[in-house]
Amino acid sequence: MAVKIIHDKNTCIGCGACAAVCPDSWEMGGDGKANLKDGKADGDNFVKEVPEEGCNMQAAQSCPVNCIHVEKDGNKVI
Ligand code: F3S
Repeated sequence: MAVKIIHDKNTCIGCGACAAVCPDSWEMGGDGKANLKDGKADGDNFVKEVPEEGCNMQAAQSCPVNCIHVEKDGNKVI
């Protein structure tokens, strides 16, 4: 199952919850916003394809502004 992680960085307020619950995929950047590790720019978003969602669902659920999205096989999960 293909899993796509999407970060709407413009909406990120830098709360840091994603990096706290899912440091494998998320880290805080010098701009005070989160970085999706190994994410590639896609328009205004950063995206990454991964084989398993891992802790990214927890990261998405913990984000107070819902700027982390997860798609499975092209279907938006969160
Ligand atoms: Fe930003 Fe949400 Fe993480 S606001 S720092 S993406 S928890």
